[in-house]
Amino acid sequence: MPALVLLGAQWGDEGKGKATDLLGGSVDYVVRYQGGNNAGHTVVVGDQKYALHLLPSGILSPGCTPVIGNGVVVDPAVLLSELSGLQERGVDTSKLLISGNAHLITSYHTTVDKVTERFLGKRKIGTTGRGIGPAYADKINRVGIRVQDLFDESILRQKVEAALDVKNQLLVKLYNRRAIATDEVLEELLGYADQLRGFVADTTLVLNDAIDEGKVVLFEGGQGTLLDVDHGTYPFVTSSNPTAGGACTGAGVGPTKISRVIGILKAYTTRVGAGPFPTELFDGDGEKLRVIGGERGVTTGRDRRCGWFDAVIARYATRVNGLTDFFLTKLDVLTGWERIPVCVAYEIDGRRVEELPYNQTDFHHAKPVYEELPGWSEDISKAKTFEELPKNAQRYVKALEEMSGAPISAIGVGPGRTETIEINSFL
Ligand code: GDP
Ligand code: IMO
Ligand code: MG
Repeated sequence: MPALVLLGAQWGDEGKGKATDLLGGSVDYVVRYQGGNNAGHTVVVGDQKYALHLLPSGILSPGCTPVIGNGVVVDPAVLLSELSGLQERGVDTSKLLISGNAHLITSYHTTVDKVTERFLGKRKIGTTGRGIGPAYADKINRVGIRVQDLFDESILRQKVEAALDVKNQLLVKLYNRRAIATDEVLEELLGYADQLRGFVADTTLVLNDAIDEGKVVLFEGGQGTLLDVDHGTYPFVTSSNPTAGGACTGAGVGPTKISRVIGILKAYTTRVGAGPFPTELFDGDGEKLRVIGGERGVTTGRDRRCGWFDAVIARYATRVNGLTDFFLTKLDVLTGWERIPVCVAYEIDGRRVEELPYNQTDFHHAKPVYEELPGWSEDISKAKTFEELPKNAQRYVKALEEMSGAPISAIGVGPGRTETIEINSFL
């Protein structure tokens, strides 16, 4: 089982950090392949809680080499502060490898992200304001700055000038902001060069060699399937491909090398930012899920929107990612409900629909069709095996598995590393 992808099956915040950390001890490399510091991955080790944004969660496992792949957008200031934060807590960060082809998020990307959202007003996406969209836009527009450009001042100057050319016109003429000076950006970026030089590597070569040698490589997705720029609820998405194919382009590893794709699936649903969300709750149940589940953004501190489990979305995630397994998280949060509704299909303009509609308007009109499952009241946080779960919790898991189209191979019953029921080994 040399190469596994672990990704979000919903709208992010499914518990990817915990799942990655759990496997980290048996994995040689953990690779971020897309996104940037819009991610907020929580890892709880004993009484220590870590919030990782840009660094792969495997950085907390001593034997594991963390890799930032070419598909990631890197804000150097955030990267360096995250590294020093971990170093202060005694974490060894020296093994980190960063692709020279990864693109940089600069201060003008964060500025453009914020002013664009303000300009959109009611139509805003609700981005994390971290410059993600504008950095990817520059990459696709071929005016991006890559990590390797930091080490060639004259190239860097040319590229920053080219990037600012149009951006300054926009900032000044459309957004009524001050122009950004090339020298200002250059000075800031060059200041990072020496601090980052030692981490930069040909990560595609490193990872392919590792796989060929039988080492275990884990690709850790940020965000989630429904936030994917191609397969998500566009335009209410992030600007990268969290879906499984993104691991190939974002790390330079061919699809024939990937042996397993694990979808992290929360036992209910959450979403941050704007966009459609059929099972969203606006009543006391939604509030209860938010409070018991601690559903507050790790990156922006925003309250997450909460709703019941949506099997249509889970089936869709199985399809577009070719999922081989699910890791069901936060089952413990559902303890105490007498009956738990699960969305099994949608009703769209009077029709029952079993699959996620590809048409945006249909999805906005989708009303959940619920089936109610009996709940349980026993504390499940100490359960170590499936059989130790109350019968109704077992039924809930089995029902979700049948509806979602892939086996549930692990169940989270608490935030800690050990609060996990392993059913089938991932390795
Ligand atoms: P990520 O972005 O997918 O890594 O997820 P986040 O870290 O943003 O949000 C998941 C939250 O749920 C974090 O606070 C985790 O510590 C917590 N968590 C993960 N798995 C479980 C679980 O099985 N039970 C409970 N109660 N909390 C969990
Ligand atoms: P993790 O990895 C949840 C959402 C934002 C917004 C949209 C676009 O912790 O699961 P962006 O800043 O990416 O341009 O914002 O995507 N978003 C996330 N929501 N979890 C995340 O990451 C997210 N990263 C981005 O809220 O709706
Ligand atoms: Mg998160």
